[in-house]
Amino acid sequence: MRIEMEVNGERRALEVEPRRTLADALREDLGLTGTHLGCEHGVCGACTVIVDGEAVRSCLMFAVQADGGRVRTVEGLASGAGHPLQRAFRAEHALQCGFCTPGFLMLLAAALERDPGIVRDEERLRELLTSNLCRCTGYEGIRRAALRAAEEMGR
Ligand code: FES
Ligand code: FES
Repeated sequence: MRIEMEVNGERRALEVEPRRTLADALREDLGLTGTHLGCEHGVCGACTVIVDGEAVRSCLMFAVQADGGRVRTVEGLASGAGHPLQRAFRAEHALQCGFCTPGFLMLLAAALERDPGIVRDEERLRELLTSNLCRCTGYEGIRRAALRAAEEMGR
């Protein structure tokens, strides 16, 4: 099937099998390998991207479901000095191996762009962060990075 979507601000057309996941279409057809694949069944969140403003697990979504939509991946996050979240992750040492990082960045970008105030509610922030898996950092650096970025984004 031929689909068209806006990916990181650019119109992209591609031919996909109906069962091709969005993750595979992004990584293999469009070469956007910043979106990582871990579990491939919706548990780890490494494959999180933003579709029409919502953080989604791209391993659970078919590419055809994004037809006509607006997709953002980690490659589209930085411009100039980087997204506030990227700077905050660096400053707060919120990554070690980095495998989970693109997923956390996109998860947090969607949440903070909608409501930077989410970080003031410990429960909501914990719930958000525990939806993605990180086996290295213990989450504390990621939590601090979320607070730091939210401060900048809320100004
Ligand atoms: S790779 Fe998609 S949730 Fe783990
Ligand atoms: S930094 Fe290694 S899994 Fe999160």
